[in-house]
Amino acid sequence: MRRPMIAGNWKMNKTPAETVALLTELKKIQIRNKAEVVVCPMTVSLFAAGPILKGSDIRLGAQNVHFEDKGAFTGEANVASLKELGVQYVILGHSERRQYFGETDETVNKKTLKCLEKGLKPIVCVGESLAEKQKGITNEVVCLQTKAALCGVSRMQLEDVVIAYEPIWAIGTGMTATAQDANATIGAIRRAIREVYGDMAEKIRILYGGSMNDKNASELMSQPEIDGGLIGGASLIPEKFEKVINY
Ligand code: PGA
Repeated sequence: MRRPMIAGNWKMNKTPAETVALLTELKKIQIRNKAEVVVCPMTVSLFAAGPILKGSDIRLGAQNVHFEDKGAFTGEANVASLKELGVQYVILGHSERRQYFGETDETVNKKTLKCLEKGLKPIVCVGESLAEKQKGITNEVVCLQTKAALCGVSRMQLEDVVIAYEPIWAIGTGMTATAQDANATIGAIRRAIREVYGDMAEKIRILYGGSMNDKNASELMSQPEIDGGLIGGASLIPEKFEKVINY
C-alpha cells in the first residue's frame, strides 16, 4: 500500500545557520510509524542541510525549481544543482508561488516533467480558493490543476509523483478542512487520475495540507484517502512536528 509521507514546508524561514540548528533537533525524533519524513528548507539553506541529513531518515526537499536545465534565468535554481545538494523532492505549484510569483498550471507541468526526467520527485500542490469553495467548484478546480500538472507524465513516472491537496483558505489560517471534506476531495483527485492512468492511481500518494498540526494530524491521517501531510507552521516547531510525524 501507499507509504505515508509527512513533509515540512519551511517557506521563507530559517537561515542556513538556523537550518542546522533545527535539523539537529529534528534528527533526534524517533519515527515510530512508517511515515517517510521530508523537510523543505529555503533554497539557500539546502547547502547547509544536505550534510546534516546524510545517513538520517529525514529526506531533503526544495520549494521550487526551474524547468530548464541551465542558462539565462537570473535568480533561478536548476534540477542538477538541487540533486547535487542531496535534494530528492521538490514542492511545485504551491499556492503562494501561484499567487505571488506567476506560477501557472503550464509552468507547474513543465517543472513536473523536468523533475521526473532528471530524477527529482515532485510534490505538486493543488487547491481551491475560498471563493471557489463557496461556488461549489472545488472538485473541478483541483482535478483540472492535477490533470494539467500531469500532462505528458508516463505511467512509469507517475509512481514518483506526490500530490498535495491544500485548500488555499486553510493555509496559515488555522482553519483546516474537515477530515471528511479533505478525504472526499482527495478521493475526487484520485478518481481524476484514474481516468487517465487507470489502477496506477492507487499507487500515487495524495497529501493534505493547510493548518495541519499536532492536534488534528491523527484525525486527518485516519482517513483512507489521505496519505500524509504537507505541514507549514507546525513543521518549524520540533515538538509539534514530532507529534505530526508520529500521528
Ligand atoms: P500551514 O502551511 O501548515 O502553515 O497552513 C501549509 C503549506 O502552505 O504547505
